[in-house]
Amino acid sequence: MKQYTVAIVGVTGLVGQTFLEILNNSNLPIKTLRLFASSNSVGTKFLYKDTPVVVEAIEQGVFETIDYALFSINSSLSKRYAKQAVTEGCKVIDNSSAFRFDDTIPLVVPSINLDDVGNHHLIANPNCSTIQSVIPLSVINEVSPILNITYTTYQSVSGSGQKGVEALHQQSDFYPVDIRQTVYPKIDTLLDDGYTFEERKMIDETKKILHNNQLLISATCVRVPIERGHAVSIRVVTKQKIDLTRLKDAFQNHPMIVLTEFPNTVDVSRKNSVSVGRIRRDKIDKNGLLLFVSADNLYVGAAQNAVDILKGMIEYE
Ligand SMILES: NC(=O)c1ccc[n+]([C@@H]2O[C@H](COP(=O)([O-])OP(=O)(O)OC[C@H]3O[C@@H](n4cnc5c(N)ncnc54)[C@H](OP(=O)(O)O)[C@@H]3O)[C@@H](O)[C@H]2O)c1
Repeated sequence: MKQYTVAIVGVTGLVGQTFLEILNNSNLPIKTLRLFASSNSVGTKFLYKDTPVVVEAIEQGVFETIDYALFSINSSLSKRYAKQAVTEGCKVIDNSSAFRFDDTIPLVVPSINLDDVGNHHLIANPNCSTIQSVIPLSVINEVSPILNITYTTYQSVSGSGQKGVEALHQQSDFYPVDIRQTVYPKIDTLLDDGYTFEERKMIDETKKILHNNQLLISATCVRVPIERGHAVSIRVVTKQKIDLTRLKDAFQNHPMIVLTEFPNTVDVSRKNSVSVGRIRRDKIDKNGLLLFVSADNLYVGAAQNAVDILKGMIEYE
């Protein structure tokens, strides 16, 4: 079997470290793993399959000998370096929001739309809260077409990266409030329509992944003072009234969904699972349903989804 050279770009960050953990536990055909971060981290060593690997800086030409790169840096850096990598012949899976809304770049959750990858060399990984929401929603959509969705999220501080986690453990001005003492209904920048960019991501990404621009979607995204794992309360209205027993059977048959009465983030920590529960009928619309969904934002919501895309791309070759 062909063996590949793979890179993690942003290896010292929360998503980068999760990539390393997942690749260390995987049997993907990787002959060489290369690690990149900022100049502050050059020379730091991490173990890959018991061998120390040194963190490098991104220089011109570094991607020429790399087959696939898993990017987990901020979106402005991704715009610069992912383009460089693709030009140098490397295929990129990018975790930032830099390319998610570009119609020419696939936005992929492998259990839903892996076929969108095709021959593309740059793939966007969706937002963490979007991924864990669209997995159960894609199942609902198969049972009866979805007409509209309302999201309310409960997102842990690790969703903001290393600095968010630090703010949970010590006084910091990283958030506009002391996040240890409150929940805060603003994630990412506030836009002209009164929605935040995080809410915009959930709305536009859901439509793109489910291939349905007609979907009506609203979202409220809230930061909560827990370290790891996101939860989403979802109200969904479908074309026909859904039989709940049939829906629960469909959830149970999904390889990533764990059906449970009261989903919580701890039970799915470091797992490639989405916990789905509190399923009940809406009191307002007879075709409406309410459900609650928990998942690990760094696994399902970021690194594992990207590694699953990588697996799909390798199998497709
Ligand atoms: N956290 C989540 O739940 C989550 C989920 C989905 C998507 N994402 C996205 O994934 C990306 C990374 O998030 P994160 O949470 O892992 O952030 P993070 O913990 O803040 O890590 C940022 C990484 O970027 C690296 N970096 C900074 N400047 C660089 C430069 N000039 N050149 C190369 N590398 C540089 C950092 O390296 P140094 O340590 O050397 O500074 C670090 O490895 C972001 O775009 C984020 O939106 C995050």
